[in-house]
Amino acid sequence: MSISLIAKSIGESATLKLNEIAAILREKGDPVIHLGGGEPKSRSPIDALVAASGLLNSGEIRYTPADGIPALKKAIIRYTEEFYGRVPEPENVMASGGAKQAIMVALQAVLNPQEEVIFPAPYWVSYPEMAKLCGAIPVPVLPEDGTFYPRLQDIEQKVGSYTKADIINSPNNPSGAMYSEQFIADIVDFCERRDLYLIVDDIYHRLIFDGRRPINCYNYAKDKSENSRLIVVNGVSKQYAMTGFRIGWAVANKKLIEVMTNIQGHQTSGPSALLQRAAVGALNGVQSSVESLRVTLENNRNIMIERLNAFDGVRVTKPDGTFYCFADFSVYGKDSTKLANSLVDKVQVVTVPGVEFGMEGYLRLSYCGSIKDIIDGIERMKWALDLNSPNELYIGDRKLVRDWT
Ligand SMILES: Cc1ncc(COP(=O)(O)O)c(C=O)c1O
Repeated sequence: MSISLIAKSIGESATLKLNEIAAILREKGDPVIHLGGGEPKSRSPIDALVAASGLLNSGEIRYTPADGIPALKKAIIRYTEEFYGRVPEPENVMASGGAKQAIMVALQAVLNPQEEVIFPAPYWVSYPEMAKLCGAIPVPVLPEDGTFYPRLQDIEQKVGSYTKADIINSPNNPSGAMYSEQFIADIVDFCERRDLYLIVDDIYHRLIFDGRRPINCYNYAKDKSENSRLIVVNGVSKQYAMTGFRIGWAVANKKLIEVMTNIQGHQTSGPSALLQRAAVGALNGVQSSVESLRVTLENNRNIMIERLNAFDGVRVTKPDGTFYCFADFSVYGKDSTKLANSLVDKVQVVTVPGVEFGMEGYLRLSYCGSIKDIIDGIERMKWALDLNSPNELYIGDRKLVRDWT
C-alpha cells in the first residue's frame, strides 16, 4: 500500500493502545488493573450534563463558528481572567476538540517542514508525533542532571537556527513534576528574546498538591502585545473529568488565532456544538468537583508513593501534581516495553513504558483510579518482579504461583 512519508513516520498512541488492551482483557473477564490510564474516574459535573442535555433536547444541534460558540469563548475569557489575571478578547481565543487539537493546530500554524520543536523529556507521548505530522522535527531535551525538572541551559544548548517553537507542560505528564516558577520565568523570557513560539500546555495546572498554587506564565511575559508568541493551552478533560467531551482551547495573539481557526475550520469545522455547551456548563457551573478531584488525587498519590517506596530497587520522585507517577524500574529491566508487557502477561497490570515518554527504564503509573487498584496493582507488580516477595499471589480466588526466577 502506498501511504505518505508523514503517515509512515507516525506511531500508534501508546496510551490509547493500552486503554484498548485493558478493555479487551476486561471483556474476556480477566481481572485487569489499569494503572496506565489518563483520565479521572469521577463523574462529569452536573452543570455540564444539564447544559448538553438542554441543547440535545432542543433537537437543533448545528454547525458553530470554527473557533467556538460565543458562550464558550466568554467562559474561557472568564477562566483566563480568574487563573491568569488577563482578559483576552474573543479574537484571542479558539476552542478545539480537546487540548490535543489546540496544540496540533497551533503547531500546524507555526511550523514549516524541517523546522524544530523543542520540549523537555520526559514528555507527553503526542508531542513528537504532532511535530512529525507537520513535517517538522521533534527535539526532546533530556535533563542533564537526571531529574524531572528541566534547566534552561539544557534547552538553550539544543536551540539552533531551525528551532521554531518550544512546548512546556507543567505539572508534567508523565513525571508529575511541576516546574519551578523560576524556570517558567526563564523560559518565557528566553523564548521572547529568541523569537520562539512558546506553547504552555496547562492541562493539569489546577491538579497540584502540597499547597502549591498554579503558576501563571503571563506574569513573566514582557511582550503583552499582539506580537506575543505565547500560546496558552488548556481544557476541561482532566480538571473536570470530561475527557470524552473533547473540549480544549488556545489563547494567543489574534493573527495566530485567525490562522489556527482557518486550519481548524477546514479540518473539523470546529468542535461539536453539544460538547461546547457542556464545557460552558462546566466552566460556569459549581466548581467544587475540581477541588474534590484534586484532594482525591493527592490522597491517591500519597498511597502510591508509600507503596512504591516499599518496593525494593524502584526509584520514585514524588509527583507535585497530575495523576501520574514516573518510577524508575530499571533494576527490573532496562527495556520498559518488555517490562510493561510482562506485567500485563503475568499479573494483568497495565502500565505505560517510559520509552514512550522519552526515557527508558521507567514506567508511568496512574493514580486516577481507585485506591484498591493502586494497592492491589502495586502488590501484583511486586509479586511479579521482586523475587523476595512470597511465591504465591491470590487474584480474587485465583492462586498464582511464581514459576520464574
Ligand atoms: C500533557 C497533555 N496535554 C494535552 C492532553 C490532551 O488533553 P485533551 O483530552 O484535552 O485533548 C493530555 C491528555 O492526556 C496531556 O496529558
